[in-house]
Amino acid sequence: MKMGKKAILVALTAVTTVAMTAAALAQGGGGRRPNPDQTAASFRQALMTVISGTAVPLLLMQRGRVPYSAATVTKNARNLVTLAGMIPDAFEHDTSSATGIKTMALPVVWQNHDEFLMTAGELRTRAEALEKAARGGSEDDVKSAIMNVGAVCNQCHMKFRQSPPGEGGGGGGGR
Ligand code: HEC
Repeated sequence: MKMGKKAILVALTAVTTVAMTAAALAQGGGGRRPNPDQTAASFRQALMTVISGTAVPLLLMQRGRVPYSAATVTKNARNLVTLAGMIPDAFEHDTSSATGIKTMALPVVWQNHDEFLMTAGELRTRAEALEKAARGGSEDDVKSAIMNVGAVCNQCHMKFRQSPPGEGGGGGGGR
């Protein structure tokens, strides 16, 4: 009885060791290690891409380019609240002195981090106001709440993001 249990334990330990070794090999043995600066930059850019994909339909609605839909506004505003809440973590890793990575984030993101975080918080607050407007407000209320959201995209890009080549200012937020 006792020996049986012990034998099982030994076997389990062996299996676990093999599994852990395999995982370690899979991580370390595949050639180049991922560059943590590029990983951080890619992550925050992916977040911005999703934020943009969520906000742009609303900005088009605000401009009358697509039909108004309160249901879409409610859903996208709620998603924007969550996505805006992810900005602080996504920009925690300071890449201001990293070289050879693809990024448009200016060093001032980390030099003036409190203001950056406040601007991210402002996006969240305005997305919350938009969600509220979409539930109870008039179409005009909703449209001005969408404008407020778009304005904070631009505000942050003007200060914290390099302007894309050929564009004068903060890049319209949507692109
Ligand atoms: C708190 C600041 C801040 C706010 C608010 C913000 N952005 Fe950004 N955004 C940035 C920074 C910084 C970058 C550059 C990231 C990089 O290249 O590493 C960026 C990049 C982008 C990009 C390019 C992503 C890529 O693939 O390179 C898009 C698109 C974008 N933002 C859209 C938006 C939209 C739309 C909003 C508003 C709904 C918004 N952003 C709100 C700071 C902000």
